[in-house]
Amino acid sequence: MMRIGSFIFLFAIVAGVALAVQGQRPAAARGDVESLTLPDYRNWTHVKSMVIFDEKHPLFASFGGIHHIYVNAIGRRASETGGPFPDGSQLVFVLYEHVNEQGAYVAGKKKVEAIMVKDRQRFPETGGWGFQAFDPQTRRPLIKNADVKSACFDCHAAQKDNDYVFSRLVQ
Ligand code: HEC
Repeated sequence: MMRIGSFIFLFAIVAGVALAVQGQRPAAARGDVESLTLPDYRNWTHVKSMVIFDEKHPLFASFGGIHHIYVNAIGRRASETGGPFPDGSQLVFVLYEHVNEQGAYVAGKKKVEAIMVKDRQRFPETGGWGFQAFDPQTRRPLIKNADVKSACFDCHAAQKDNDYVFSRLVQ
């Protein structure tokens, strides 16, 4: 009896502390992409790479260079099938300048790192995804909450049937 009693007592303390901690932390505001941070993605699965090297390509101005795409473990399966991606999925797009080195394109300076974070509760207005891009030097977020639709989502909306994701994992 004593044991059960102290167990319940201990449980009450732990639950109380957990609630207090939760109460102090401001809940992540809906649609707030300014609070997203750049994940440590270098051990994730490589999805694909691409070089946009010529102004003939419509995305040359904004995405000219060499880019690589990575997916975390939660999103990996969906990245093979074309979605839907479960909550917790994350994708990273990292872009480097393409430098012509005697006929070979090699990666130059890092230009931008962009992420998509799936959380349907947090980002209902943008297909359940939080979009953000980071300055590779300062790692600071570049996209304001008010601009995320025009800067990111409107273009990704074309991929609605693939859960707003363009890339498919290359085997
Ligand atoms: C004009 C269209 C366009 C805009 C604007 C755009 N993207 Fe993309 N994005 C693409 C395309 C096309 C790809 C796929 C590239 C590939 O297949 O290699 C892509 C890929 C990605 C990926 C990898 C997952 C995927 O969908 O393949 C991420 C992450 C991403 N973009 C984030 C962003 C963020 C964050 C913004 C806003 C700062 C943004 N994008 C703005 C067209 C766009």
